[in-house]
Amino acid sequence: MNSELLNLARTIAVEAGELAQRRRIEGVEVADHKSSAVDVVTHADRETEAFIRARLADARPGDGFLGEESAAESGTTGLTWVVDPIDGTVNFLYGIPHYAVSIAVVEGEPDPLTWTALAGCVVNPETGEVYSAAAGHGAFLGEERLQVAPAVDLSQALIGTGFGYSADRRAEQGALVARLLPRVRDIRRLGTASLDLCFVAAGRLNGYYERGLNPWDHAAGALVAAEAGARVSGWSGRPATSEFILAAEPTVAEALEQLLTEFHS
Ligand code: IPD
Ligand code: CA
Repeated sequence: MNSELLNLARTIAVEAGELAQRRRIEGVEVADHKSSAVDVVTHADRETEAFIRARLADARPGDGFLGEESAAESGTTGLTWVVDPIDGTVNFLYGIPHYAVSIAVVEGEPDPLTWTALAGCVVNPETGEVYSAAAGHGAFLGEERLQVAPAVDLSQALIGTGFGYSADRRAEQGALVARLLPRVRDIRRLGTASLDLCFVAAGRLNGYYERGLNPWDHAAGALVAAEAGARVSGWSGRPATSEFILAAEPTVAEALEQLLTEFHS
């Protein structure tokens, strides 16, 4: 069942990635602003979500839908598709080839606090990389099985993070990262949360944390990271939510969480 759902997620994510990439080549226009002047949506974000939604409705008419760019809808099967049509919209807008289509399917209420992620796929159409995971079946980059990087001391850890769209939130995030930077190998702000999580899975980052993500930013990537052996959680072992997510090899995760908690208090 989970692998059938994953096959569907993968097929649609690859097709949606091709659509987004075509639109990128034709030229990208901002359609609107959302939570702040720097939180933009392009016509391509909307078109790509509409494409994914229509494909899913056709294949699985009873399932619910939760996406970034259109109204949520509950279904009758207990399953919900959680979709970010273009994660890394600012990279997409600027022509930075690091953005992704992220599609996950979850069981239960479509709330990260309680849902069970069954399958997820994250595709970067610019590199052709397809990350996927089904619960209990491991995480893959294409055909290659993924495993998080081995444990390292935090001083040797490459840590990814991201910043929200509100100026107040950014001021806090900047202050925190300023304290973290001297304590780790280095920081990366790559601009696409779903790929940050997949990079943890692939051992390209030792860890990743962020405050204030939306469910569609992390639903698929979190499953990929967890299936590759990462500990993925919120504060104090709670499930990862929009409030806070941290993903890393378990001992790195523990050390990073401890340090972030110390900075917080
Ligand atoms: C954003 C990206 C970014 C993260 C932001 C997200 P969007 O998603 O994932 O890396 O730092 O918090 O909102 O707006 O490009 O879909
Ligand atoms: Ca998005």
